[in-house]
Amino acid sequence: MAGMISAFLRLDDFMAITILVGGQWGDEGKGRIIDLLAERSKYVVRYQGGSNAGHEVHIGSDVYVLHLIPSGILHSGKVCVIGNGVVVDPVALVGEISELRKRGISVTSDNMAVSDTAHMVMPYHKILDELREIRKGKLKIGTTKRGIGPAYADKVSRTGIRLQELLRPAVFREKLRMRLAENNAVLRSYGAKPLPFEATCEELLRAGRFLKPFICDSVMLLHQAVAQKRDILFEGAQGTLLDIDYGTYPYVTSSHPTSGGACVGSGIPPNRIDRVVGVVKAYTTRVGEGPFPTEHDGALGEKMQRIGDEFGRTTGRGRRCGWFDAVVTRFSRMINGIDELAVTKLDVLDDMPELKICVGYRVGPKLYESVPSDLEALKRCRPVYQTYPGWRTSTKHIRKFEDLPKNARLYLEAISRHTGAPLSIISVGPRRDDTIYVKS
Ligand code: GDP
Ligand code: IMO
Ligand code: MG
Repeated sequence: MAGMISAFLRLDDFMAITILVGGQWGDEGKGRIIDLLAERSKYVVRYQGGSNAGHEVHIGSDVYVLHLIPSGILHSGKVCVIGNGVVVDPVALVGEISELRKRGISVTSDNMAVSDTAHMVMPYHKILDELREIRKGKLKIGTTKRGIGPAYADKVSRTGIRLQELLRPAVFREKLRMRLAENNAVLRSYGAKPLPFEATCEELLRAGRFLKPFICDSVMLLHQAVAQKRDILFEGAQGTLLDIDYGTYPYVTSSHPTSGGACVGSGIPPNRIDRVVGVVKAYTTRVGEGPFPTEHDGALGEKMQRIGDEFGRTTGRGRRCGWFDAVVTRFSRMINGIDELAVTKLDVLDDMPELKICVGYRVGPKLYESVPSDLEALKRCRPVYQTYPGWRTSTKHIRKFEDLPKNARLYLEAISRHTGAPLSIISVGPRRDDTIYVKS
């Protein structure tokens, strides 16, 4: 009981306007931490990415995977906002809302809003995403094929179509006709079938009619919330090393999962933000291609993958696994201004005889203490490890930091020391109460 009380006291500390970001390559457990913090927040806001995200939340024996809808939807009385920085596949969003409703989760215009200036992921974006990956051959990025890159490219090229256009069918038809003419020519150049105008148009307008009650001026909605001193929680998708600017380009996504993205992707200015929480796994994973210095592609990586159930929730692909990389997390702390870290999946390491933390990279004679901006150097770097003894006992039922085995505490303290960030939450299982709140 004492643990519960301190837990709730701790939750109160999270209030105000908080940005939660992934500190690695995505899938850090952001959804499950959002689900915890959402209890005391009124608004939960997605600000970037699209349905490439897969945020899994366990509530009792029920498992939900959210792709576009903020994870706060699983709590009643919250307002979930899909901000202007998100790229929205309208058909996928209709599917996600319907699926949640079928499972008894209320999704109405009282608890969900979608920005009218969010750009749409169009059917040709998804096809092009796939065709370009095939054409790249072994240089492929390993995208989720959700059309994210092509949709953001259209937005920046000023050839995108925004959700508000769906509410004006005549205008939408006009724009779609123009966009299809160009994109169908591109599809043909890849040897793919062009998209039929009428069927494509009708499918999207149907989704528009369904989504109409949700589409609004989210910038004004959020500013009203700020004026009313409501608590707001920004739900980052993907992770810092997948950021289009700060990630391992070109092996990245096309948005800004970093904390700066929350301001641009919602309209809330930086001086309104009170805190930034970074979420990291107690080890590291990456799904898709690209450099991953601490990757273990042998038996150890397989063991982490199996015990951690490291399979993507959006694509089902196996996640690459390796040791905790403090260089990466230090970089994330710096870029995002992380005030505190939530460390997830500690329990996955319960059986390890010893553990390693990467504290630097060696490239030839050069020692890097931060992530090199030169991709070629990053590809060639060899991790410098510090080794820690394992604890070899289950942590799953532990709810207080002081009850953790000594070696687990030493390991967590090393993560905090090497990344320079205090720890605030540790999770030892996927459910809400598999949580340890740490008083820094
Ligand atoms: P997200 O994309 O950052 O929200 O993370 P995902 O949901 O894609 O991946 C995290 C996975 O780890 C999910 O399957 C969670 O249910 C699971 N998970 C989260 N926290 C823990 C934990 O502390 N222990 C274990 N064993 N699993 C966890
Ligand atoms: P969440 O929010 C992990 C990866 C893809 C690929 C790269 C580009 O669940 O943490 P994209 O489809 O975005 O163009 O793919 O980014 N990726 C993710 N990896 N978690 C995610 O989301 C991801 N979203 C995209 O695997 O390497
Ligand atoms: Mg995920």
